[in-house]
This record gives sequence, C-alpha cells and structure tokens, in this order.
Amino acid sequence: MSTYPWKLSVFLSLIVLFLLYSAVLYCREYKEVLPADVLAQDGKMIWQQKNCVSCHQLYGLGGHLGPDLTNVYGKKGEPYIKAFLQSGTTVMPNYHLTENEMQALISFLKYTSSTGISDPNSFTKHNDGTISQ
Ligand code: HEC
Repeated sequence: MSTYPWKLSVFLSLIVLFLLYSAVLYCREYKEVLPADVLAQDGKMIWQQKNCVSCHQLYGLGGHLGPDLTNVYGKKGEPYIKAFLQSGTTVMPNYHLTENEMQALISFLKYTSSTGISDPNSFTKHNDGTISQ
C-alpha cells in the first residue's frame, strides 16, 4: 500500500461514503406496514392455490388477462370483490369458494390495498436509487 498512497485514500474515501450513505438510509423515516392478520394469511394461501396471479397482478407483477388487484379493495370495496368471487365472469372462473374462503381472500386484498399503491410507473424515482409513492 505504501507505494500507492492514493489507493489507500480512495479506499478510505469509499468506506467513509459507504458509512455516510448507510447512516442516511437508516435514519430516514419509513412507513411501517403492519403484518397481515391470520385471515389475510389464509387468503394469501388461497390466492396461491387458486393461482389468481396467472391472470391478475399484485404490485404490477403477474398475468395480464385480468386487472391489477393490489388496490381493488380500497377503490371498489368488499361487495364488488365478493360479487366477482361468487359468480366469476365469462373469462374468470367461478371457483365455488366457501364463505370463509371468500372472506379470507377479501381480507388478503384488504391487506394489499393497505400497503400502498401498485402501479410502479407512478412511483417517484430518486437519484439515490430509492423510490417513493
Ligand atoms: C383465467 C383468468 C382469471 C383467473 C384465474 C382469475 N381471474 Fe379474476 N378476473 C379475470 C378477468 C379477465 C377479470 C375482469 C372482468 C372480466 O373481464 O371478466 C377479473 C376480475 C376480477 C375482479 C374484479 C376486478 C376489478 O377491478 O374489476 C376481482 C376482485 C377478481 N377478478 C378476483 C380474482 C381472484 C381472487 C382470483 C383467484 C381466486 C381470480 N380473480 C382469478 C380473470 C381471472
């Protein structure tokens, strides 16, 4: 190292920058998202078992035959979701779900709706590589 003192100063500068950047990130305020309750966790299992994601997206990820459902609870409400789950449509299958299964799925969609908005295109991108809604 002594033959290349500039390398040592670059190395130390990078360490200082890394520590500063870490400190800034850790000191930031963040919105805490509460963990999903038991019913919502059951709903997530049903969501996976019935493979809803093959046609629907959550947070912009998933199939594109049906609409993104991340915020469907917040935008359209429980009775609207229930109507789709009870009857299906010409494209969406009727899964003949029990009342409990429907409540669990609705609870899961209520949870996803409470976590934020889903369209990544509407996020604000910051220069430090983070995003905000
Ligand atoms: C084969 C594809 C397919 C699958 C699988 C599917 N859906 Fe759908 N779903 C659709 C389509 C397409 C629509 C839009 C209405 C239409 O055109 O029939 C829709 C609409 C909905 C809507 C109303 C959304 C809105 O904003 O109007 C909800 C809620 C919904 N689906 C929930 C589910 C859930 C929960 C599952 C899993 C149990 C599921 N879907 C599985 C295709 C599907």
